[in-house]
Parts: sequence; C-alpha cells; structure tokens
Amino acid sequence: MCGIIGYIGDRKACEVIVKGLKRLEYRGYDSVGVVTEENGKLYIKKGVGSVDEVTERLKLLDMPGKRGVGHTRWATHGVPNDINAHPQKDCTGKIALVHNGIIENFAELKKELVEKGHTFESDTDTEVIAHLIEEELKSSENFEEALRKALLKLKGSFALGIVYTEEPDRLYFVRNESPLVLGIGEGENFAASDVPAFLEYTNRVVFLDDMEYAVVTKESWVVKRLETGEEVEKEVKTIDWTLEMAEKAGFEHFMLKEIFEQPRVLRDAIHGNAKVIGDVAREIADYEKIFIVAMGTSYHAGLVGKYLLQRLAKKVPIVEDASEFRYEFEDLIDENSLVIAITQSGETADTLAAMKLAKRKGAKVLAIVNVVGSMATRIADLTLYTHAGPEIGVAATKTYTTQLAVLTMLAIELARTLGTADEEYLKELEENLRRVPDLIEDILNLNEPLRELAEGLKDRENFFYIGRGIGVPTALEGALKLKEISYIHAEGLSAGELKHGPLALIEDGVPVVAIAPKGRTFDKMLGNIEEAKARGAHIIALGSSERLREVSDAFIEMPDLDEILTPIPYIVPLQLLAYHLAVLRGNDPDKPRNLAKSVTVE
Ligand code: F6R
Repeated sequence: MCGIIGYIGDRKACEVIVKGLKRLEYRGYDSVGVVTEENGKLYIKKGVGSVDEVTERLKLLDMPGKRGVGHTRWATHGVPNDINAHPQKDCTGKIALVHNGIIENFAELKKELVEKGHTFESDTDTEVIAHLIEEELKSSENFEEALRKALLKLKGSFALGIVYTEEPDRLYFVRNESPLVLGIGEGENFAASDVPAFLEYTNRVVFLDDMEYAVVTKESWVVKRLETGEEVEKEVKTIDWTLEMAEKAGFEHFMLKEIFEQPRVLRDAIHGNAKVIGDVAREIADYEKIFIVAMGTSYHAGLVGKYLLQRLAKKVPIVEDASEFRYEFEDLIDENSLVIAITQSGETADTLAAMKLAKRKGAKVLAIVNVVGSMATRIADLTLYTHAGPEIGVAATKTYTTQLAVLTMLAIELARTLGTADEEYLKELEENLRRVPDLIEDILNLNEPLRELAEGLKDRENFFYIGRGIGVPTALEGALKLKEISYIHAEGLSAGELKHGPLALIEDGVPVVAIAPKGRTFDKMLGNIEEAKARGAHIIALGSSERLREVSDAFIEMPDLDEILTPIPYIVPLQLLAYHLAVLRGNDPDKPRNLAKSVTVE
C-alpha cells in the first residue's frame, strides 16, 4: 500500500503535495517522492525516510511548478531506497509517474522492454509502466492513446498519477483495484489515494472505479473507461467528514478500517504471490524437518500453516513460539532443516533471534513478512510478502488473514510439486481461495448484527473459544483478539479438551464461541457444543449447517467452504466481535494498554 497525490492549479504544487503526503503517511512510510513541472521541465526529488525527513533533507518545498504528483511508499517490489522511491520515469525523462499497487506481470514486460532497448534504473514494478507508455507512444496518435494501450497490458492493481512534459496543462490519473479519488476545486483540481490528502482545500469529490482514468486540468476534469476511451458520467459527492474521520476513511478506528480492508488486501496478497510462490515451493519441497516460528497472532497463522502442510503436502512441521524455539531446538536444527518464520513487522525480537539461530545452524530460512526491507527479510534466504499494507491498529487483523492466504498458496504449491494431492482438487482450492475476498465482503455485512450481539455480551468476564482441527488456531486467535483489546478474559482451546478440565468453568450464561465449519470433525464438534450447552453455556456458533444453527443461541452464518479455506473468513466476525466489545467497554481498540505494535525486545 502506498499513498499518491496530485495537484494542478495556481498554488505552489509542492506545498499542496507535501501537505497531502503527510496526511497519507499512514498508507506507507518508507520513502517519499515528488515530481513537479515548469516550462516543460520535470523536477524530481525522492528519498528514503518519513515525509518530514525527506521534505527537510531534499528541500521538497523549494520545488517550482504548479502541477505535480507525489508519493509516500510502502515497498512491495525492491527494498526501500532512493532509487526505488517514486516517481519513476521513462528513458526520455518526459513521463514521470507515481503508483500504488502491484504489477503482477512486470517481469515479463520488463524483459520485452529491455529487448527493445529500454534501460531501467530501479527494481520497481512501477518503472515498467513509464517505459511501456513511452514505447506505446511510438505507434500512437497521442499520449492518451498510448497510455490506454500501455495500461491494458498490465496485470495487477494500480492507482497512478502521471505527468507528461509535452502536455503542460494536464495530469492523468488511473485506477484499477487501488483507491483513487478526485478532489474538485475552483480553478484547481486534486487527486489522491484518499480524501484527507486534499480535504483542507475541497470537500467535493469524484470516486474513480476500476479500469477508469481521469484527464485533469486546472479548470476541468473528465473520467473515461480504459478499455474504450469512452467518457463516463460521474457524480460529484460532497464529503462531510472531519479530517480525522477522513484519515480513517470514515471508520471510527484504524482497526475497523483494517478489518474492512481485508477483501482488497487479500486480493493483493493472492495477486502479489501468484508468480513467485511456485519457485519458493520448489526450493523448499525436499525438506522433511520443518519448523514454523512466530509470536502472537503470527504464531496462530503458523498453526494454521501446520494443518495446511499436513493435509495438502503431507509434511509434519513443528510449530514453536519463537521465544521458546531458541532454547528448545538449538541441538535439533541443522542444514537439513527448513525454518519458516512468520512476522508481519519483520522486527519481532524473538522471531529474529530464532531466525538467526537457524541461519547459524545452516538451516534454510523462509520468512513470511509484511514489511518490505525489514530485518527478517534481510536474515532470510527466501521471503514471501503478505502485501497487506501498513497496519496501524495494534491488534493484527489484515496482516493475519494475508499470512493465511500466503500459507494456503504455499501449501497448495508444495502439494503440486510433491504430487501429494490431486491436481483437480488443488485447482478447485485455488479457485475458491480467489473467491474468499468476495465472501469476506458478504461477512462484513454482519458488522451491525455483530455489534448488537456484542451489546448483549459486554458485561461477561469470561469467554471460551472452541474449535477442532484447522479450526483450533481460529479459536486461539479469536480469544487473543478479545483479550487484547476488550480486556475480557478469554481462552481458546480444542473442543475435545473442554471436558478435560475447562468445562468446570462453564456455568449459566458463559459465552462459548464455537468455530464449527462442516468437515472431518463436525459431528464431534456438535457433541462438544451439547456438552457445554448442558452446563448452561451461551453458544455463539460460526458455521454453515442448519443443525448447528438449531443448537446455537446466536448463529453467525458463514460461507459453505472446504474446511481448509475456512480459517481466513472465519476469523473476520471474531475480529468484529472483539472490536465492538472493546468499544462498548470504553476501550481504544487501536491502542490497547500495555501493548506495542512491534515487540523489539525479547
Ligand atoms: C496480536 C498481535 C501480536 C503480534 C506479535 C508478533 O494482535 O498483533 O500478537 O502478532 O507481536 O508480531 P509480528 O507478526 O510483527 O512478528
């Protein structure tokens, strides 16, 4: 995730852009860049650091020109450095652009362009777009035609802001699967990834839809379809959010916003890994001694990973909390070991220590990470990115579900490489995984019913979350979400464990959240629910079976999916339930007491 902004009008463009970038910094904060234009010349300044640091160091506010675009980066391809920062430009230096998104087929396109004589400066997927437009310009009537032809060759997600020196009165903006909104002013116009970037100047906005682009001058704007170049009629909306509300896209908290971002970031995670996952799977396929190390929510992702690897690739990994791993497994790791480290921040001290130990012992280390360029990516031999964008809320939500998507893709590819599952079945799983973001969109419609459910539960002091098989990690994660933000005591466990002790704590009205998809152990789960119910438990069940609905006090209807894919959608209502309980109890879910986003001490 990155933030982009563009301005055209009579103000000093750099001032509007820098202010806007500051407001977009929550979307990415590893590097910053601006391009402005004056008298047919482009001025580009960019570098690693926060908006304030780069503005000061590179004197961004001294840039001339009354039109330009800017970018705050959250790296997806290429480590954060000055060259990889946006804007990126073509060979002629006439086209400069900023990009938010991921171009899946950039490697193929880059190869073709290099063969045609293009030289590249950066490792980014973005630079390819500038060169592609330059290439298309050679056989096009005008820039707009070249732009359309080039963009139709891209696969992936993109929101773009583009400056072309030969057309001094305009800017181009494009949207496909990454957000972009125009800000309509008087004698000036804006565009950005998000409304707060320009809200100080105008509250009249036009939201672009996928595969649309806008041609914007200071006095006019028009939106067209990328496929046909035909004009699209768009409604100008008036936004009545305060700046603070706008930063959270109208959501009350970052956590809620991030929960709602899950369909989009899951699509990014699936797109972003489609090309690389096969190579990684082949590189690790022969390892039999596999350890998965992580902490907290990432550890729960590791537990899901264990079930996925067992069921699909017939591997039996050991999942260990990274703080224990170092002391327990030192003698057991060697060059025949594969250590998979899962960490959204890439900076968790315990996980890094476990990775370093694994390296020292000669093991192969694969990291599954959200933050590009973080320490974990530097230690690992191989890295898979989760493409979730920055997560501001302390409680992990979208970084968890994207970890699960990556692990699912990895297990499928391993099974394919090893021939441990039927190809038809693997294809069906892949297809259904691609449907999961849409299914989550439907689940998010349960937000209000879940808030109402939380109303009735807000005074309870103990919750139990039970699951079986691949549902157990969901029970653990549901319980963790609840305790860390609502401060209600919650325990997650396998449903089979209930009668070996915890059942003693079940009495009238104690909420028991049952994760009960159809699958291998569904009937057993129904039995466990009955056991709890007989002691007075208040059953809140997640599943897709009518029988389950009948035995539950509150039923959260979930899509009917292969059990293997259920951990991703099933956690979403539990995130929402925890969120509402936290808010109803007067807590700030974005900043839970005693916790930090990144735990960099052991
Ligand atoms: C819980 C949470 C933490 C983290 C844990 C590991 O919501 O966010 O439990 O999952 O601190 O963090 P990373 O994934 O950055 O290594």
